[in-house]
Amino acid sequence: MNIDHRFKGQIAIVAGGARGIGGAIASRLAAEGARVAILDINQEALRRQVEEINRQGNQAFGFDLDLTDQEALVECLQTVFNWHQRIDVLVNCVGIIGPTGMSIVDYPLDQFELVMKVNVNSAFLLTKYTIPYMQSRMYGRILHVASIGGKDGNPNMVGYAASKSGLIGLIKGVGKEFAQSGITINGLAPAVIVTEMNKDTAPEVLNYMKDKIPMKRLGTVEEAAAISCWIVSQEASFNTGFVFDLSGGRAVY
Ligand SMILES: NC(=O)c1ccc[n+]([C@@H]2O[C@H](COP(=O)([O-])OP(=O)(O)OC[C@H]3O[C@@H](n4cnc5c(N)ncnc54)[C@H](O)[C@@H]3O)[C@@H](O)[C@H]2O)c1
Repeated sequence: MNIDHRFKGQIAIVAGGARGIGGAIASRLAAEGARVAILDINQEALRRQVEEINRQGNQAFGFDLDLTDQEALVECLQTVFNWHQRIDVLVNCVGIIGPTGMSIVDYPLDQFELVMKVNVNSAFLLTKYTIPYMQSRMYGRILHVASIGGKDGNPNMVGYAASKSGLIGLIKGVGKEFAQSGITINGLAPAVIVTEMNKDTAPEVLNYMKDKIPMKRLGTVEEAAAISCWIVSQEASFNTGFVFDLSGGRAVY
């Protein structure tokens, strides 16, 4: 298989792909031949990301929407499917971190609910409404970006840890549910990757997490894109309901 053309002719959706990990995945999918629909709430970053991919001679289209908005999402997926009557790949990178460096005893309920809504509800809606399109061709690859925080439970960020554990449960359950359908549903659990998301994370929290990584460095978005693109390629055909590690040796399970 020619790695430059793994996604030639395919339609890929990258939710939360305007920047960061999702931006790198969208760029790589497009560079490997996919026509990429990027769904994101950050209009300015979305515009820049789409322009950059198209400037490189590859194909991306932006959809400015809040992924927790069911009606807007349903309409957007229908539009994307109508292009070529197919959706081959869904990568979900939508996420917010919420309060960090804060004990659960100080953590406000409205912040907890917001983190759960963005990180879990959007994954639920994306999966629920994309699968029927994939079923129509008996093929699909779904990848949700979870977090090491959902496996290990980082302290003092209870909303984030709880939401990513919830996402991991969704991946495992729905992966089994569709195991015989030609559609795979997997997850990725990165340790800290350098992106804008963690630029406001309390330094003591970042140091705590970096110190737990045996490689003693943070990951890059290119490293995240490399493993993600394999997981959503045709080659990854005997993996479903699994959460892949990307943690510089932190997680050995
Ligand atoms: N950066 C890390 O260290 C790290 C580690 C583990 C897991 N992750 C996860 O990886 C994913 C991507 O993280 P990132 O670091 O690239 O962050 P990021 O903030 O750069 O990217 C997240 C994207 O999601 C979009 N988004 C947020 N809420 C949205 C909504 N309601 N509707 C539509 N789009 C929305 C943002 O606009 C942004 O473009 C997240 O799920 C994050 O939890 C990140």
